[in-house]
This record gives sequence, C-alpha cells and structure tokens, in this order.
Amino acid sequence: MPRRIAGLSVRIRALSTVLCVLLLAAAGFGLHRALGPRGEAVADHPPAGAPAGPRTADRIVPVPLSVTPGSGPGYRLTAGTVIRAAAGAEAVERQAGEVRRIAERLAEALRRPTGLPLPVAEPGDGDGIGLALDPALPETTGPEGYRLTADATGVRITARSPEGLFRGTQTLRQLLPPQIESTTRVTGGPEWTVAPVTVEDRPRYGYRGAMLDVARHFFTPAEVKGFIDRLALYKLNHLHLHLTDDQGWRIEIPARPALTAVGAVSEVGGTPGGFYTAADYQEIVRYAQERYLTVVPEIDLPGHSNAALAAQPELDCTGSARPWPYTGIEVGFSTLCPTGDAVFSFTRDVVTELARLTPGPYLHIGGDEVKRVAPAAYAEFVRRVGEQVRAAGKTPVGWNQTAPGGIGVLQFWDGRAGRDAELREATERGAEVIMSPSGRSYLDMKYESGYPLGLVWAGTIDVRSAYSWDPDTLVPVRAGSVLGVEAPLWTETLDTPGELDRMLLPRLPALAELGWSPRESHDWGRFRSRLAEEGARWEAAGYGYERRPEVPWPAR
Ligand code: ACM
Repeated sequence: MPRRIAGLSVRIRALSTVLCVLLLAAAGFGLHRALGPRGEAVADHPPAGAPAGPRTADRIVPVPLSVTPGSGPGYRLTAGTVIRAAAGAEAVERQAGEVRRIAERLAEALRRPTGLPLPVAEPGDGDGIGLALDPALPETTGPEGYRLTADATGVRITARSPEGLFRGTQTLRQLLPPQIESTTRVTGGPEWTVAPVTVEDRPRYGYRGAMLDVARHFFTPAEVKGFIDRLALYKLNHLHLHLTDDQGWRIEIPARPALTAVGAVSEVGGTPGGFYTAADYQEIVRYAQERYLTVVPEIDLPGHSNAALAAQPELDCTGSARPWPYTGIEVGFSTLCPTGDAVFSFTRDVVTELARLTPGPYLHIGGDEVKRVAPAAYAEFVRRVGEQVRAAGKTPVGWNQTAPGGIGVLQFWDGRAGRDAELREATERGAEVIMSPSGRSYLDMKYESGYPLGLVWAGTIDVRSAYSWDPDTLVPVRAGSVLGVEAPLWTETLDTPGELDRMLLPRLPALAELGWSPRESHDWGRFRSRLAEEGARWEAAGYGYERRPEVPWPAR
C-alpha cells in the first residue's frame, strides 16, 4: 500500500471494525468473519499493492463450516519445513499409501512456487505440515470433513479418511498467498505464511459435480485433466462426462468398433473430432480418483444419438438420422429405435463396457429431449436400459425426463411442461435428485446478452444469479431427496480450454459453495469479496477467467 495513504487506511480499518461488529451483531452470524491474523478487522478488499502478509482465513472458497482465527504470527514455510503423513495405527495399508500420496502431491504443488525442499517424512516431532487420519474425530465429520489448525509451529490437518485430508489440503492452498498456485518458481515473492486459524469443515451435500460435454467438441485427456484440476480446487467430487451426442461418439466400445471409427470423426463446425480409448478413459478416471473425484460417464439414449445412428444405421427405425457428419447444433431430432432386440443388444454392449471401465457407482443414460418417441415406448425403453445398468452393477442416473422410466437418481435441468411436478412425485416415491437447473447452473449460458461465447436458451446467468438459489428449495421435492448439485458445461460454442475457463471461472466456485457450505453461510456480499481474491490465484495458475463487473476484483 502506498505510504501516503496509510493514515487513511487506519481510519478505514477503524470504520470497518465498527461496521463489521455491527453487521455481525445484526446478523448473529459467527461462521466466518472478516478478521485478520491477530483478530483485528480487515478491509474486505485490500488495495492493490497491499503487503503480502498472511492471508486472512476469510478467503476460503467454498466457505467452511467454521473458521476461528488464532493469534500469533502464523506458520511460515521455510527450508526446514517437513511434510509428515500419518495414517495411524488403525489404518489399513491402502489408506497409509493414500495419505502418503496426498502428502507427496501437496509437497509437489508447494515446491514449484516456493523452491523449498519440503521433504515428505514419517510422523515425528518438529515443525511442519502434518496430515493425519484421526478416527477419534466426531462421526459427523464424515468422509470428506477435516480439521485444520495453524499456529507458529506448523499446520495440522486431520480427517477420518484420506478424502477428508485431500479436501483439507485444498483449504491450505487458499490460506497461502495466491502465488502459491504458480507452476514456476516465484522469486522475490511473498513470505509463504499460513495465518493462525482453526478450520472445522464438512460438506452440505455428498454430490458436488461438474459436467463436460466432450461430444459437441472433443477435449483431449490432458485437457480433461486440466478441467479436473479446477474442480478439485473447489472441493467438487464428481466429474460427469457427456460422452455421446448427435455430433460425436467419444468412447471406444470394442464390440461396436464403428461407433468410434465412424461416429468420432467430426465435431460441431466440422473440425476433426476424437475419442477416448479404454486406456485414455481409465487414465482420466485415475487422475480424477487421485483428486477424490468420481467419474460419471453418460451415454445419451435414446435421443441425441445421430453419431450412433451413423455407425449403426439399422437402429434408425423412424428415419430420424441426419446426413453424417452432423456438425450443426440443433437438438431433439434423432432417436434410436426404442423397441426390438437389436437396440437392447446395442445398449447392453455399451453399458457392459462402460461399467467395466468405470469404478464409480453411477452410469448416466441421458434420456433428455426425445421428441419422436411416444411416452409409453420411451418409458419402457428407459426402464429396460436402467435394468441393464443395474445388471452391470451400477446405479442408473438420467436427466429428469427419465422419471417415468423408474430411474432412481434424476438430474434436474428442465422444469418446463410440468416436469417439476413429475420430479416431486418421483422423489415422493423414493427418487433422489442432482440439481442442475439450466437457468442457474448451466455454465455455457452467456453472462449477459451479447457475450461472445455460449448460448441463451435458458437465459443469461451472471455470477450473482449462479450463486443466488437454494438447491433444497428451488423446485419442491421431498425433503432430504437432494443428493447435491452439478454444473453442466455444454460445448456447442466452446472448443478450446481457454474458452472453457472463461465460462467456468468465476461461476464454478458459486456452484461449489452452494454444494459445500452450510446454508446459513449463504451471503452474496461476502461471497463476492472472497471470490474476488481468487482472481490472483487463477492468474498465478495460468487459468483464464472473466473479470465480471459484479465481482470487486482488486486492481491488477
Ligand atoms: C439438456 O440440457 N438437454 C440436458
């Protein structure tokens, strides 16, 4: 901060102390506070060029269940800092390996910008960062919860499972200066100091996801890994891959080689497409697993199937296919024949292979926008494919249209034409819901009309609108039936990772906070100032983002 305005800054800080106390008292709100490392109130937006001291604990996105600022100088990473991994006496061997790998991944991420050695060691005394499984933590901590404490002697993260430790390491990254995200050595940079704090945390929902449409435009395994990195930062735990659509079939099915030999050649606009071999797909699954994300593969049936029909023309009994390759962006025209042995032999081959390749519990069968099949035939088709998925050992998931086919996990995107009432009735019969309302969570909708990327059919979605809804109540469903939230990113208009970034950031953290943070902490004013701080992290990481005007980004 320039010296000449230091006096003014003291007065602003004093005023903000008073305002802060008044606001906290008025709101009765104790979950997170704009307090600095010594408990003093701080301005929400430090001016550009502010000294790079410890980040205040009020910078964590998604906001944790509770943050209690400590006192003292906090913990500074030095050449002597050791990262210790302790699985504990009761841990099975697999968990011990996982804890060690989490520690190694953290060390690797911190070594790059800091240039510090940060060796990973066995449990022991001394300063440093400790990761430890602790079965004595309350059961309410759950598999993803964790406890993080930082003081002058070190940082300790404890959790009941490795997953919780991993989530805790994401919080630790946010407690360090934004340059910690740099992939290259930061010289002449900040002190790598963690503010003294105790964080107790666990998610509101067990399902927090994002979807990437690799059918309209294909993204390579390396590009998908980059997408996963962004989700992991915000503690998401599911990656839904939309693997097939009218414009392309992107997963190799050995029993049906034409699907990729024919159906993967192209994409929207007519540029070359692509597909994942089994090895590619399994590498994506492995990379996601290391970050505690479950891959949910989707094969969209019976509609959105022009690429499948190009490969298997005998399955087109209604004459719905368009000439191949189809490179436009219309929806709702294509359908597989909904009846007959051939189509169920086809779906069995696909479901069996996908289940074989996928360790996660879910297999998504699509089911949206089927306009050429009568309702009874559609429901029967969905029911039979759902049975095939169960027979392959997986839980079927479908877009909310699949409710009449008895699918038990419904992804809500479309409340038109009475679908919201249909969804409520399905939940009353026991179905569960993943909330992806198109008008709030579709990351391919433009921020505002005239924005160069994205579409507007579900409206425009600015950051405030992406944040300002409640997954439990947006549509009336049985209490307790909402599994969580997911942000789909359709790619009709997006064909580079940079374009994905511009739609994802800053809206993905809004969705992540809805999925993770307690409902009582929901507060647009506080969210937008925490979000503003993320910009510097994205810049350090080399991620693109949109500096939307509704977020008070610090001056560059
Ligand atoms: C969808 O947006 N058609 C699921």
